[in-house]
Amino acid sequence: MTTPTSDNTPDTAADKSSQTWQNLSTDWITWAERLAPAAEKINRHMIEAADLPGLATLRNGAPLDVLDLASGVGEPAFSFARALGSGTDDSANIPGVAGHVTASDIVSDMCDALMERAAEEEISNIKAVPANMEKLPFEDQSFDVVSCRFGVMFCEDPDKALREAFRVLRPGGKAVFMVWAPLVDNPLFAAMDAVLGNILGIGFDAAGLDPFCFGDADQSMMRFEKAGFTGIEATTHSPAGRIPENAPFWKPQMDMLFGNVLRKSSDMEVGAINAAMFETLAPYIEDGHFQVPICFHVLSAKRA
Ligand SMILES: C[S@@+](CC[C@H](N)C(=O)[O-])C[C@H]1O[C@@H](n2cnc3c(N)ncnc32)[C@H](O)[C@@H]1O
Repeated sequence: MTTPTSDNTPDTAADKSSQTWQNLSTDWITWAERLAPAAEKINRHMIEAADLPGLATLRNGAPLDVLDLASGVGEPAFSFARALGSGTDDSANIPGVAGHVTASDIVSDMCDALMERAAEEEISNIKAVPANMEKLPFEDQSFDVVSCRFGVMFCEDPDKALREAFRVLRPGGKAVFMVWAPLVDNPLFAAMDAVLGNILGIGFDAAGLDPFCFGDADQSMMRFEKAGFTGIEATTHSPAGRIPENAPFWKPQMDMLFGNVLRKSSDMEVGAINAAMFETLAPYIEDGHFQVPICFHVLSAKRA
């Protein structure tokens, strides 16, 4: 964990990023339960790409060790824990596969909230360790899978984080990362960026966030190769939910990325933001429902 200076002014870019996420942690905790079903759906792509049955065979049936990086309040760590045989939803367990998940995040409040959720959901094969994914507190070659959903792009040095993921993987182990496709393929984020820019003067750039820096799948695969990985594959997905048109469905994502600024905004500004979001996304209304795609890549890679 990085430590803010005594006057609470972050002294490095990593401290600043950690502070930003620390300030957003209440928003992540607020929305976690509501977003869990949708999260579970997209996490399936990561579980499939990890090929847990194949890894279990490689390890002669020994329990698998999964490390989830930048877990926030539990995604996809919970999906891996369920696949490995824990939790109340037996249908998520993969037959013949067992193991343990180490979840981690740079913000210790996220880790605490994750463990509270795990207890509520009776997920027992998980622990949470506060950790900067650029400098992991784990031994070399100690995990069979390293996963990360929408986290690596927020590192000060993402390539360092990829090298760390490689270092802690056992030979034959797999890295599975979910990353956002470009902004142009993500109309919800494009609308958010434009609307908040117009009304509050803050978008992703001004907030110091670059969620789309792994958007080019070919370049991202090259980054994995440079970190030492082989057998690198990428798949692209564009699911669209179906949400009644009277619901401000952008609110969770907007809060979880811009909650810090929204909390300081007036009711009038918030009203204007919601009206502008509705207008910008109205072309995606069909049959009285918003159907706005989100587009992401799942990158999987092996340590030979
Ligand atoms: C967009 S959230 C994703 C959380 C979760 N994986 C999910 O998909 O719901 C990004 C997370 O990355 C964490 N994070 C940012 N920089 C990090 C770093 N250098 N090391 C570890 N975690 C980091 C933040 O605290 C935050 O929880």
